[in-house]
Amino acid sequence: VRLFIPKDACAIACGADEVVAAIEAAARKTGTAIEIVRTGSRGMLWLEPLVEVETADGRIGYGPVTEDDVYGLVAAGLFQGGAHELRIGKPEEHPFMAKQTRLTFARCGIIDPASYTDYCRLGGYKGLERALQLGPAEIIEEVKKSGLRGRGGAGFPTAIKWKTVADAKDDRKYIVCNADEGDSGTFADRMIMEGDPFQLIEGMTIAGLAVGATKGFVYTRSEYPHAIAAMAKAIEVARQHGMLGVNIAGSQHSFDMEVRMGAGAYVCGEETALLDSLEGGRGTVRAKPPLPAHKGLFQKPTVINNVLSLVAVPHILADGAQKYADFGMGRSRGTMPVQIAGNVRYGGLFETAFGIPLGELINDIGGGTASGRPVKAAQVGGPLGAYVPTWDFDLPFDYEEFAKRDALIGHGGIVVFDDTADLAKMARFAMEFCSVESCGKCTPCRIGSTRGVELMDRIMRGERREANLAVLTDLCHTMKLGSLCALGGFTPYPVMSALKHFPEDFGAAPRTLEAAE
Ligand code: NAI
Ligand code: SF4
Repeated sequence: VRLFIPKDACAIACGADEVVAAIEAAARKTGTAIEIVRTGSRGMLWLEPLVEVETADGRIGYGPVTEDDVYGLVAAGLFQGGAHELRIGKPEEHPFMAKQTRLTFARCGIIDPASYTDYCRLGGYKGLERALQLGPAEIIEEVKKSGLRGRGGAGFPTAIKWKTVADAKDDRKYIVCNADEGDSGTFADRMIMEGDPFQLIEGMTIAGLAVGATKGFVYTRSEYPHAIAAMAKAIEVARQHGMLGVNIAGSQHSFDMEVRMGAGAYVCGEETALLDSLEGGRGTVRAKPPLPAHKGLFQKPTVINNVLSLVAVPHILADGAQKYADFGMGRSRGTMPVQIAGNVRYGGLFETAFGIPLGELINDIGGGTASGRPVKAAQVGGPLGAYVPTWDFDLPFDYEEFAKRDALIGHGGIVVFDDTADLAKMARFAMEFCSVESCGKCTPCRIGSTRGVELMDRIMRGERREANLAVLTDLCHTMKLGSLCALGGFTPYPVMSALKHFPEDFGAAPRTLEAAE
């Protein structure tokens, strides 16, 4: 009997290792020969640990399983896919999964992340195969046609970035994967690295071919030990199969890569601070220009892409740019792995074409709040994303549409709040976060964030509210326009959106219905 149990960090935190031990003990006791495959997560996080058993009719899932459930489950016929209150049927037919368009997460939770055979069996390395036939210029053209934009948050066209590096003349170029996933409510990069690491290796290898780089680095954080282990293992296996190193896949090209770990400073997710950290220095933001595409790691032309941008590339190459571009709306093409988190009933990873309304993600797919109370707002795009109130939940998931309402998609994280949340306190937290995480290089952020916290404390105590609110608005304006990077530049978003939509939390009169409209 084959069983599949995630060894994803979330599943482990929910007791997956203990469930594995209990199932092994139960199998010994009942004399059943079993094989347990440790997978990544399917992304239905409220069902973790999700135990799946292979039957003649496909895989049958049970979740969330605790150590204490195992005896009852085995007695009810777990090994045959028997009936039990935790039985969810086929995971892929669960409404949360069936509504998705899974491209980059198609294999996550299904395959053994360390198995090269599993990866290739489900379409892996088809993209690289085609890339090797096409050559650099055509690879970039294909990525351009797909409309792929940077999934780290800025949404910059990936093909333009690659072309800039490809055109740069130098003896050495690098591919750096930004896996320093620091936004609150985000976990997609981690899930890919833990659940389908070969996909990232393939994406980085194709990027290397496209721009003429032979070395890649995955920069991630020390809080991601399982992801680091899974990536390191996959890199080793890829080398054994000739997919990394010299003459990759029997070609004339060479590409190799390694994983580097940062200490978890938020600012090290900013690309130039990341480069400083990768070089062994303190993570401090560099002034741009020069762009990393011209002078990046060790002053060499460097592609820096987020995990999610890089893992889209093998699909674009394997299935053709048009198929990818057919998903989405406006200038936001393809799919986005949305991460639904916070006070929400069904939290998890939901990959879907751009254009889906925010309210549908939170209320229909996420099932509203976990507390059962009304939703008050959602913060989209990390700790420096705007709070979107319920009356804006018609907002389609699209870079431009979000920007029009002073909000951002960022890395696709949604954190849901119910009506007990005090958004003045949350906005103060954003300012405090900025002051703690500031790299200190520029004045609006270094000093502005500390003054901002003081101002907000005064406002919340009711001291000279109107005058202090005016100063806070002015300060936010200065931080937004005068900061060197997105940390200081984006802190005004949560602050100003909370002030605009929920003035009553700051002790002012509530926003009227007419104003909201
Ligand atoms: P940016 O707009 O300055 O640059 C975007 C990317 O395009 C960079 O890689 C930049 O080097 C590149 N680029 C720009 N012009 C180029 C050109 N002409 N040729 C080649 N490459 C070019 O944005 P930035 O500061 O890199 O990122 C800001 C975003 O980061 C925000 O939108 C925010 O959502 C996001 N963010 C993400 C976090 C996460 O954890 N993923 C955390 C904090 C912020
Ligand atoms: Fe550093 Fe903040 Fe300025 Fe960014 S905005 S460069 S984090 S001080």
